Amino acid sequence: MLRDASSVVVFSGAGVSAESGLATFRSGGNALWNDPEVSTYPTPRGYRAHVPRSWQWYAMRAQTAADAAPNPGHVAIAEIERRVPDFLLVTQNVDGLHHRAGSRRVVELHGNLRETRCFDCDAKSAWPAQPADPLCARCGGLLRPDVVFFEENLPADTLESARDAAERCDVFVSVGTSNLVWPARELPDVAQSAGAHVFIVNVDMTGQMPPGDRVVHLTGTAGDVLPRMVARAWPAPT
Ligand code: OAD
Repeated sequence: MLRDASSVVVFSGAGVSAESGLATFRSGGNALWNDPEVSTYPTPRGYRAHVPRSWQWYAMRAQTAADAAPNPGHVAIAEIERRVPDFLLVTQNVDGLHHRAGSRRVVELHGNLRETRCFDCDAKSAWPAQPADPLCARCGGLLRPDVVFFEENLPADTLESARDAAERCDVFVSVGTSNLVWPARELPDVAQSAGAHVFIVNVDMTGQMPPGDRVVHLTGTAGDVLPRMVARAWPAPT
């Protein structure tokens, strides 16, 4: 199906970066939201209430992501993009590893950790070398990471292009997401309702749409299952 598809969407979450050593939000003993204080950071009010610790926590995550390397799961997704005429990667991840693995047609639904943004004047800038002082160089306002917080809207154009692609695709591959966060979580349903075949790659199928006629569960890690999917779809010439 992957080989014959003319339009493919890959939809990724934190699980695809787990094998690069990055903690997920809700799975495993080191899940980020396990810490009760940290779990309050991703709202405008929670972030402001805990500055400078919230700022330093995001700076640390930006550094951890920059230090991590893409794994075979990221590489396989970039390979699918090269093989399929109409492709979109819709990621909830902010770690930038998909880009570093070679993915180009990417929608980052929840923003990214590459830059900071000012709460007041909205100016974007690089992370300061010494991330001690979270103040905007332009207006003195409070800096934050360039990610989407809970209680904030996703940029309308990114959500719209993700929905359009989900409606259009023949094959929709969901990888490493708990599928809990709205509005991203509606995308597999959008694709399935529009007639796509849905493949779900995850180590744990809790909360995923049940297997069925056009829904296939591939239980395993992204770094194992995705390269095997690619190798089966496009075998190397012998
Ligand atoms: P979660 O932490 O909620 O879910 C991670 C998923 O990855 C779980 O379903 C795991 O079973 C699965 N998983 C773990 N290791 C895996 C592996 N090696 N291979 C395949 N699957 C694996 O992360 P997300 O679904 O990405 O939003 O979370 C969605 C959003 O919630 C995030 O973007 C973030 C968070 O709050 C914001 O910050 C706005």
